[in-house]
Amino acid sequence: MAPEKDPDELKKGFCWKLCQSRLCLVLVFLGMAAGIAVSVPMVLLSKSLRERFAPDMKWWQKTIVYQIYPRSFQDSDDDGVGDLRGITSRLDHFQYLNVKTIWLSPFYPSPMRDFGYDVSNYVDVDPKFGNLSDFDDMLKTAHGKDLRVVIDFVAGHTSSDHPWFQLSQNRTSPYEDYYIWANGTTLPNRTIVEPSNWMSVFGNSSWQWSDERRQYYYHAFLAKQPTLNYRNPTVVEEMKNVIRFWMDRGVDGIRVDAIPYIMVSEDYYQDQARNYTATAVWTKPAYYITNLTKNVPDIGDIVKGWREVLDSYEDSDDDDDKSRFMIVELYDTPEVRNRYFEYGADMPFNFDLVTALDNHYQVHGNFCAAICIRDAINNVYDNLPKGKWANFVLSNHDNRRAASRMGELYVDAVNMVLLTLRGTPTTYYGEEIGMEDIFVSYQDTQDPFGKKYGPEKSRDPERSPMQWDDNKNAGFTNSSHPWLAVHPNYTHVNVEWEKNSTNTTTLKVYRDLAILREEPSLQYGLLKFTDVNPDILSYLRSAEEHPHFLVVINFGQVPVTHDFPGALVNRGQGRVKVVTSQAANEGRFAKDSSVPLTQIKLQPGDGLVLELAESGK
Ligand code: GLC
Ligand code: MG
Repeated sequence: MAPEKDPDELKKGFCWKLCQSRLCLVLVFLGMAAGIAVSVPMVLLSKSLRERFAPDMKWWQKTIVYQIYPRSFQDSDDDGVGDLRGITSRLDHFQYLNVKTIWLSPFYPSPMRDFGYDVSNYVDVDPKFGNLSDFDDMLKTAHGKDLRVVIDFVAGHTSSDHPWFQLSQNRTSPYEDYYIWANGTTLPNRTIVEPSNWMSVFGNSSWQWSDERRQYYYHAFLAKQPTLNYRNPTVVEEMKNVIRFWMDRGVDGIRVDAIPYIMVSEDYYQDQARNYTATAVWTKPAYYITNLTKNVPDIGDIVKGWREVLDSYEDSDDDDDKSRFMIVELYDTPEVRNRYFEYGADMPFNFDLVTALDNHYQVHGNFCAAICIRDAINNVYDNLPKGKWANFVLSNHDNRRAASRMGELYVDAVNMVLLTLRGTPTTYYGEEIGMEDIFVSYQDTQDPFGKKYGPEKSRDPERSPMQWDDNKNAGFTNSSHPWLAVHPNYTHVNVEWEKNSTNTTTLKVYRDLAILREEPSLQYGLLKFTDVNPDILSYLRSAEEHPHFLVVINFGQVPVTHDFPGALVNRGQGRVKVVTSQAANEGRFAKDSSVPLTQIKLQPGDGLVLELAESGK
């Protein structure tokens, strides 16, 4: 028989084991802690590990946003005006393009004095465009194709036909203070004049007399676009309800129209000081220092309120990114734009590629080429607040088309820039096929702005119907009276032709770029300008452990042969991933061929996106 163990011995043995195992636990724990302590900073410091994984990006950072001007995109009922069913019938275009988000300019009931930017009912669809069930169909079909839909939110002003304005004008409660009303100034001779010298963006006084109410009301744009009074909490709530109405239907985001103008100073009687800019016209706001009528700080709280509404729709438990997007429209410096990031906008529109290009032309008489474009881009990145995401735009319904501004030769090149920068690009409909502005005589001018200031101020030229094919009216409508003329070049500038041609076309280049954009280096990788001279614009996009890309474009007027010194790019060869159409069609470069980086010959307008071979190869 085995001797029985002394219970104390047993205890001792047990304790010892326990002790041993505790010690072991402690040791394991300490080991782990030390491991974590050592590895965390290592992970944080290891650039390659950090960059290997895609950062946590929202859907609106990964997509191209495509702006549809509903009047001009596709007509489905042959009345010469585009509509929602028309848009629904064309959604496959975006799958072809690899575009994942569309933004629709206004389709709400409107007397169309500013073509929909004068809303008479925020929660319905204008009969010209269809009805709410057409909208729901469009949204459902779009979502079924993995397309996000952003709508225009004309926040600052309604149409004077809006019932709110009618009721405000006749002082019906609770609408009396829905708009900005003021008595005006009584002169010694008893005539009543405007309260102050505030000017409308569309010209002349922004104060309009109402005979009915016997007061002036304020309008930042047309007199028929009275500005809402956001100092009235009921108005604030009404407009939040408008957002809720569309979010409840499943809309993915809003583009807020003309944000700087939604509020004005409380002191309606204070004149604005002159700013003495040489070119300013006294009937336009630029003649004055507009701090009383533009970007007043109180707008911050309003935007914050909208952010809260949008965030209340975000479902964070879900893997699918349900965040609702807000982009606000303003033409201003980075410093002013950045305030809107702070207020809660995901992005303030950055129009620097539009304005820098135009201003450069006005000052220098030639268009903004490589150095000027680089400076404009650097200015955006240099002023971007930490953690915020950039965006770029080339044109829209208020600005000339890229082809008309830069010249046909450079169309692919500017699309190449737009789609290879770090930041969300917005493409105006038709830019993917290189559409050009139409000519509209003064007689035929539709835009109120053009009617008032002459055809050169008109925005009709860039709003002409989308060119789908070479049928009558480019496949936009069967009516013989499209609301604006189709550009005569539609026989060869159209989607169908550009898709099916055996040639390389602007559309195919756009699509190649849109697909390549999903590469990590192009989506979130760093951007570094390499060689830039008066002709050549070039930059490197790189995310570690992923293929890097070099973009090279000749924005000059003469052919150039460029040598990339090894030190900058550090690779011998590049593989052509995208090539602009003329360079491809004239046989200068072929997709997937290899190009020695020491000898890149580019004609004006030629551009390449090159995938770089591994270092040393
Ligand atoms: C925005 C729109 C423009 C419109 C104006 C007034 O700037 O983009 O088209 O005329 O607001 O609503
Ligand atoms: Mg129609």
